[in-house]
Amino acid sequence: MAQLIINSLLLVLILLFIQLFSSVNAVYDITDFGAKPDGETDSSKSLLSAWDAACGSPEAATVHVPDGFFLVGQITFSGPCKSSKITIQIDGTIVAPSNYANLAKAGEWMAFEKVEGVSVYGGTIDGRGKSLWACKAGGGNCPDGATSLAFHGSKDIMISGLSSINSEMFHIVIDGCQGVTVQGVKITAPGNSPNTDGIHVEGSTDVTITGAGIKTGDDCISIGPGTTNLWIEQVTCGPGHGISIGSLGKDYDEEGVENVTVKTTVFTGTQNGLRIKTWGKPSEGFVKGVVFEHATMQNVQNPIIIDQNYCPGQSGCPDQNSGVKISQVTYSDIQGSSASQVAMNFDCSASNPCNGIELQDIKLTYGDLQAKSSCNHADGTASGFVVPPSCL
Ligand SMILES: *[C@@H]1O[C@H](CO)[C@@H](O)[C@H](O)[C@H]1NC(C)=O
Repeated sequence: MAQLIINSLLLVLILLFIQLFSSVNAVYDITDFGAKPDGETDSSKSLLSAWDAACGSPEAATVHVPDGFFLVGQITFSGPCKSSKITIQIDGTIVAPSNYANLAKAGEWMAFEKVEGVSVYGGTIDGRGKSLWACKAGGGNCPDGATSLAFHGSKDIMISGLSSINSEMFHIVIDGCQGVTVQGVKITAPGNSPNTDGIHVEGSTDVTITGAGIKTGDDCISIGPGTTNLWIEQVTCGPGHGISIGSLGKDYDEEGVENVTVKTTVFTGTQNGLRIKTWGKPSEGFVKGVVFEHATMQNVQNPIIIDQNYCPGQSGCPDQNSGVKISQVTYSDIQGSSASQVAMNFDCSASNPCNGIELQDIKLTYGDLQAKSSCNHADGTASGFVVPPSCL
């Protein structure tokens, strides 16, 4: 009798434990909502249903995308959610529709809006941009294309171990967010694919990007207006256009960029290394408090460059100066080879000269020739070993 009571008690305990555990993390597998891993069946609705279930869960919840290829069209993951901790675990590959027209209208493929505490782990997302790039190369009347993955107005976001390949346009966009960690992502698109920026950050604060490997046809990481407290570390870039603060100052009424650290980067065969770029026209924007340190350049066209005279097509800004004020920018321990003779180029605004530029331990070579530096309206100091010699 006693044995029976003990056994029953044990059973009740085990059941309680299972109950507790399952309510702590509910897992919603998209195949349970009808998704098919065949790369052909439209699984958009299944993914959205799994998201809705996770979002509505009172506890932590996981959306699981298992092994296989899942075709998903334009999708918006909207918050706010009931669950304060949602994990999207991608083991397989999410593929975009083969016809680019399906996404191009939307401008974004997978977008998160106003979510909090969302982590994306995984897996691969494949934007299948090839046919759109071919259209653009043919000079036809093609749509701009879609960003593959975007977060808007969101908080406490993690993107970890994700591979994003062949986006139609930008691969990952962080916009209007607070507290975002991007770690160990791999981004791959051909060096000649148009506007396939790796990661674009704007209007966001406390964003950390570490351990990324980015090969694209445009900027590796681009930093837009209103970005503050951005930390970038251990990133490799190339092919592509390098890491760029800007373009800034396109609009008069624009927020500044403040407190950016770019540390331990390697650029291979890129158009630029560390760039700050602003339109040559009036603006209230600014760039303040930037540290570039420990960068290795391998055959980079413009390893160090500030260009304040950007004006594509010379329309809308001829003979104007940039209003963007650039100050407190440090370059420390930047080494390697330049693919052009001017390895250090500070082309600042005549009406708003750059000030507080600091150079420490720079060593940039240009084949067997002497690399050069060029300064326009740039003020600052140099210390340690600086080659080519500073023109500040
Ligand atoms: C600058 O940003 C870093 C994170 O990138 C943060 O730790 C630091 O506190 C910020 N500094 C200031 C003065 O806000």
